[in-house]
Amino acid sequence: MDLGLADRTVLVTGGSSGVGLATVSALLGEGARVAACGRDADRLAKAAAGLGAARDRLLTGVCDVRDADAVHAFASRVGAHFGGLDGLVNNAGQSRMKGLDETTEADWRDELELKFAGVLNPLHATRELLRASDAAAVVNVNAVLAKQPEPRLITTSAARAGILNLSKSLATELAPDGIRVNSVCLGLVDTGQWARRYAASGSALGYEEWQRELAEDRGIALGRLGRAEEVAYAIVGLLSPRASYITGTSVDVCGGIGRGIA
Ligand SMILES: NC(=O)c1ccc[n+]([C@@H]2O[C@H](COP(=O)([O-])OP(=O)(O)OC[C@H]3O[C@@H](n4cnc5c(N)ncnc54)[C@H](OP(=O)(O)O)[C@@H]3O)[C@@H](O)[C@H]2O)c1
Repeated sequence: MDLGLADRTVLVTGGSSGVGLATVSALLGEGARVAACGRDADRLAKAAAGLGAARDRLLTGVCDVRDADAVHAFASRVGAHFGGLDGLVNNAGQSRMKGLDETTEADWRDELELKFAGVLNPLHATRELLRASDAAAVVNVNAVLAKQPEPRLITTSAARAGILNLSKSLATELAPDGIRVNSVCLGLVDTGQWARRYAASGSALGYEEWQRELAEDRGIALGRLGRAEEVAYAIVGLLSPRASYITGTSVDVCGGIGRGIA
């Protein structure tokens, strides 16, 4: 099926690794034009080189989504370079693995700032561009933690719940402008985040065996972590103009880790 994304333009935050990079790659594969940002210039440059896309298809920019001015500057570059914008994927971020007693006030502030600024700064910066599109869509990359909190990820779970709630409000607020807003809720996906945790764990197991034990411990029905491309597929589907009647919803991409009825 033609997803209707050819020559559409999409901005992906955190596009240099993991889910973001897989989404950039999938969008380029659909013939879309893509803008991607991240904080680390080298990582971004390596990711772009690996994609091998022409400059008229891929634009990268170094910016931290917490910095409203930097995000606005990047959005302006995107508008000038591509002449418009049809999609925004709010993906940049990471989780904070701490329980209540290890969590400082600064941890709470930092986590809430990253999660909320990570959605609101890019949205404010691109809203006028999106409003001008005839098929605008926003996808917020969230986590099953939003609905199924884990005490060992206490700040991330709480922040994720807030973002899921915010996504619903945004879907209602932006519908009159023709902008759809949806979320994908991830379980455990094998990306840089888990590779870093494996390295930090000092485990004697190989990475694959460590992942298998992790999947069993967390009760993942499919018995394995997800792959970034499997998430990208859901994101691209929600961005597609073919999904024109879908807004205000969330799709779990979690291998069956969710225990509720989504
Ligand atoms: N993997 C999972 O199991 C999982 C589960 C639930 C939710 N998620 C969420 O899914 C999203 C993608 O995660 P991932 O697993 O693909 O992680 P990843 O491989 O570590 O990639 C994260 C990306 O975000 C960028 N980034 C991080 N903080 C940023 C900031 N403040 N401003 C701009 N860019 C930033 C990173 O680049 P720089 O570091 O260079 O900035 C990188 O490109 C995150 O929001 C994460 O919390 C992941």
